[in-house]
Amino acid sequence: MSRAVCPGSFDPVTNGHLDIIGRTSRLFDEVVVAVGVNASKNRMFTSDERLEMLEEACGRFDNVRVAGFTGLVTDFCTEHDVQAIVKGLRAATDFDYEMPMAQMNAALTDVQTVFLPTATGTSFVSSSLVKEVAALGGDVSAFVPSFVLEALRARLADR
Ligand code: PNS
Repeated sequence: MSRAVCPGSFDPVTNGHLDIIGRTSRLFDEVVVAVGVNASKNRMFTSDERLEMLEEACGRFDNVRVAGFTGLVTDFCTEHDVQAIVKGLRAATDFDYEMPMAQMNAALTDVQTVFLPTATGTSFVSSSLVKEVAALGGDVSAFVPSFVLEALRARLADR
């Protein structure tokens, strides 16, 4: 049984994340989407909200489940018998950010990192840009699922 993890903050999940998760689900028997719940960055959505959004968004994939994680992603991989960490690469800057983490994770345990190039249609999409554009009144409906768009609008209206 091959099992991969797609880790991230997912604040919020975008169509770019879902493209990578969907393609990973076709490469591995099982996929665990691991939502970092203790990261230090300021978040727009709580860990419970991010987990709920991922659950809803990943309902379309039969072999994908969602879990929260704290601590090292390599510990998560050991605990869940995961052989590969899958990350999407949008551009060279992603490579520069991801490569040392992949090498550190390989040094910590024998988990392999697999990089998937993002689809051309989502290569410019990030949670940060989606939040910034939405906060300034831009239309981000093409970049997130409709229920995420509603959650974004509701959160921004609260502010
Ligand atoms: O969506 P993000 O913010 O790019 O996700 C980053 C994340 C959560 C995947 C990364 O920060 C991570 O793996 N954190 C877990 C802590 C860890 O293992 N750190 C050492 C990495 S070498």
